[in-house]
Amino acid sequence: MIIRGERMYIFSGEFHPFRLPSPGLWLDIFQKIKSLGFNAVSFYTYWGLVEGEPGSVQFDGVFALTGFFSAAAEAGIYLIARPGPYINAEVASGGFPGWTLRIQSPLRGNGTDFLQSINAYSTAVGKLIADAQITNGGPVVMVQVENEYDTWPGVNNSDFPAPLNRQAMAYTQKLFRDAGIVVPFMHNDHLNQGNWAPGSGLGAVDLYGIDAYPLRYDCAHPDVWPTYRFPTDWQKTHEQWSPNTPFFVAEFQGGSATGFGTSGQDGCAALVNMEAVRVLWKNNYGFGMKMFNVYMTYGGTNWGNLGYMGGDTSYDYGAAIKENRHVWREKYSEEKLQANFFKVSPAFLTAVAGNAANGSTLVGGNKDIAITPVLGTEDKTNFYIVRHADFTSLNNTQYKLQLPTSKGNLTIPQLDGKLTLFGRDSKIHVTDYDVGGIHMIYSTAEIFTWQRDRAGKRTLVLYGGEGEPHEFAFDIPSNTSVQHRSTVKSQQLSSLLVVQWSVTRSRQIVKVGTDLEVLLLWRNEAYNYWVLELPSSNPLIGNYSSPSKESVIIKAGYLLRTASIPKCSGGKVLKLTGDINATTDVEIIHEPTGNVTSLLFNNRPQPLTASSDGYLSTTIHFDPPRLDPPDFRSLTWSFINSLPEVNNGYDDSRWTASDHPNTTNPEPLRTPTTLYASDYGYHSGSLLYRGHFTSDGSETGIFLNTSGGSGYGYSVFLNSTHLRSWDGGPPAQRNRSFAETIPFPPPLSSRPIPLRAGEEYVVTVLMDHMGQDEEAPGTDAIKAPMGILDFSLLSQNTSRNKTNMLWKMTGNLGGEQYVDKTRGPRNEGALFAERQGYHLPNPPTTNPGWSQRNPIGDGVDGVTVGLFTTTFELNIPQGYDVPLSFVFHNNTAKGRENSRAQLFVNGWQFGKYVANLGPQTTFPVPEGILNHNGVNTVAITLWSFSENGAKLPGLSLEAEMPLLSGYRKPDLVPMDGWIQRAAY
Ligand code: GAL
Repeated sequence: MIIRGERMYIFSGEFHPFRLPSPGLWLDIFQKIKSLGFNAVSFYTYWGLVEGEPGSVQFDGVFALTGFFSAAAEAGIYLIARPGPYINAEVASGGFPGWTLRIQSPLRGNGTDFLQSINAYSTAVGKLIADAQITNGGPVVMVQVENEYDTWPGVNNSDFPAPLNRQAMAYTQKLFRDAGIVVPFMHNDHLNQGNWAPGSGLGAVDLYGIDAYPLRYDCAHPDVWPTYRFPTDWQKTHEQWSPNTPFFVAEFQGGSATGFGTSGQDGCAALVNMEAVRVLWKNNYGFGMKMFNVYMTYGGTNWGNLGYMGGDTSYDYGAAIKENRHVWREKYSEEKLQANFFKVSPAFLTAVAGNAANGSTLVGGNKDIAITPVLGTEDKTNFYIVRHADFTSLNNTQYKLQLPTSKGNLTIPQLDGKLTLFGRDSKIHVTDYDVGGIHMIYSTAEIFTWQRDRAGKRTLVLYGGEGEPHEFAFDIPSNTSVQHRSTVKSQQLSSLLVVQWSVTRSRQIVKVGTDLEVLLLWRNEAYNYWVLELPSSNPLIGNYSSPSKESVIIKAGYLLRTASIPKCSGGKVLKLTGDINATTDVEIIHEPTGNVTSLLFNNRPQPLTASSDGYLSTTIHFDPPRLDPPDFRSLTWSFINSLPEVNNGYDDSRWTASDHPNTTNPEPLRTPTTLYASDYGYHSGSLLYRGHFTSDGSETGIFLNTSGGSGYGYSVFLNSTHLRSWDGGPPAQRNRSFAETIPFPPPLSSRPIPLRAGEEYVVTVLMDHMGQDEEAPGTDAIKAPMGILDFSLLSQNTSRNKTNMLWKMTGNLGGEQYVDKTRGPRNEGALFAERQGYHLPNPPTTNPGWSQRNPIGDGVDGVTVGLFTTTFELNIPQGYDVPLSFVFHNNTAKGRENSRAQLFVNGWQFGKYVANLGPQTTFPVPEGILNHNGVNTVAITLWSFSENGAKLPGLSLEAEMPLLSGYRKPDLVPMDGWIQRAAY
């Protein structure tokens, strides 16, 4: 891809603005991606969050995109926009608003009703993206229409009304073009089949890309690398599908997602860890990949019921940047090493992939090693990607290279010994590589970066694993001075200076003449090095990446964000911003001007002295901030019963009558009127049904078949008597629907059961709604109904009598005419307290019905739901970024506890805690949602499934690792408080 005349490797990380609803932190994420050496971010937008009410598209507040675009521009990140309308992304309905479930024709199909449904959103988002295109001075360089719009495994394409739905694709593309989008269209092909590749017919795109998740999703067994999806032929398939565009991996597995009852996100980080990044990414380069997007690089949070049924509240994804925005996972550092290499290796952009060969002469006949050449065309540089032939191998294998170079065929190492490849590792060896005008004949050690200063001195940074032998060679006159310690060997072999060493933890430096300094680093030491671009004097480029920009190389610690050498300082001051988690030594390894004499770190002057190796250096002191987290157990909490619907005399006259005799849903009705929640405009959180009947004295129970999505649960009452609660089944099961017969209990003097002829009774069903499923083309799976699928009263006379119940229902207050425009259409469910808005700041806790009760000490009695709310103050010292999480003290270990809780922070739902399923107990809440310097409201709905009631074993607010930070403190998001709502 060529941007502003410069050929660039597109190195992109996926990050979704809607999963971090604190716009003031978007810059933080962009900077952390930029500091990886990436130059782009790919993002989805989520239709269902901005058009909850058909026809009313609201890109406002936290849903506005303009701040996302400006933050990207400020960080210098190009954007790949993926507005769908279908996105998948583990969000409810794959991104479609709930009301689309009532569309008669198949979703994503060619029907007029479906195509018209996308108009308002596509036009609005298209216009926003168009305004932010590079052609208008913005960051957007590419747009993806639809997502993986092809076949999925097990689905026969010909089943779908129009194979590949070419007209639908073309229709959607036209909406975006009409909105002003002129940048190239790309595709993300799920099956690597050439779908929509350039020239493939109506709907074809400009740039063909594939997506791939080779390590699959079994985060419970992170050491097991599945082999059946490991690619070996992508250069060939690409050549077949799209020979005239760069090989583009539009989505590559950067982690994996978790769901209720699974093993948790840390397993996903372990499955797709730094070793996976070494072996699988380097395998991708072996196919000549020139454009790359990593899904996810920052995952974020499935707050406010935005996720689909398979996911829990976390979308951490085990990604390089954690959900709480920390960057300490080792793969973050590994990714940084790789991306920076390609930034300084332009020869790769015109190099052509060869085929992987096991045990060829290139590796001295070792059949355990596979080597893939990527051969230079315009440049002579060749790249050799080495891995184990069995890419999952845990062996340490020794090998030699026999490589063609401009100095003839060389057997490497030329001095002593052999090279070593550790288990689950892979390396990129180069030959005839240009280090800023100095010709390196080869290096077996990997290149992190090199830079050239204005006086012509090159600094080359090489790294390897501890104990690995390595060798490099330069073509230089034999009288050149070479300086290094005795732990490094150097030898002149005719015109070649050959240097060999074994990687040690301490840095070694080789000085070659006056123009070249080579740093030999242990890989984990290299993790502490940062290459930061200086802003360009060309205002069009500014902070965006450009191969012609100058950079600094700084050794620091946890994170560096930005660097600049302002002119107003006479070019003497280097300004760095970054974060430290401990007292940190900083060394200026390279700065291009040669003029820098002083340093500002986060705007504070730092004294500079020369380090033992002669670099200007300083020490930045870290004092941990004083934190004063609230003690939730001793705070005063206000409480209100949130299940008044089971009280005698509860008035549901203003609820929605579930009286539609028909449905457009493909699932045939089994009841006299539809009880599918989406038919009545309720799509998220939880659902409440009340079925009225007049007894004839013969009823013995009720059969219920309900559906709420993986891991849902329900409680059923007859009048105020609890009949049955079902908690979703054992973790491994996580049913998405469940059917059972629930007997009415034997008589007790206190309750009117058995039923008395002629009296009215109400069956109340409270059920969880875990989010609609994603789509599988051809199945219309999104439409799978949620709610009551079937019921019948069991009677001694007429069994399964359906006709004598009248149902009413509710979900979130207002349904599609949702009340809380600030937090969007999915933040609330059917619970009484949510319908009343009691989860918001400033609830009317002095009104009748409220009392003082603590969710930890007191909890709730019996099967019911209660809302607890309190306030607490935070005062995090200025200058510190302290990611905070609410932690529910785990009670799953003690056996199955039947309760569910929702966590609301300043009105924003940031957690659904399912005690018996887990896995999530830690719920990060970003600053901005949480006020770090002021008052916060926390509200918890606690739903007990047990006659014994439920309480939280403990709840705390915890800081994982405080940072002294150069982040920009985010503004608070809108936090509209409680106002009186209609009482139904
Ligand atoms: C991809 C899809 C993404 C996401 C991912 C799995 O195939 O395009 O939207 O669902 O799978 O995390």
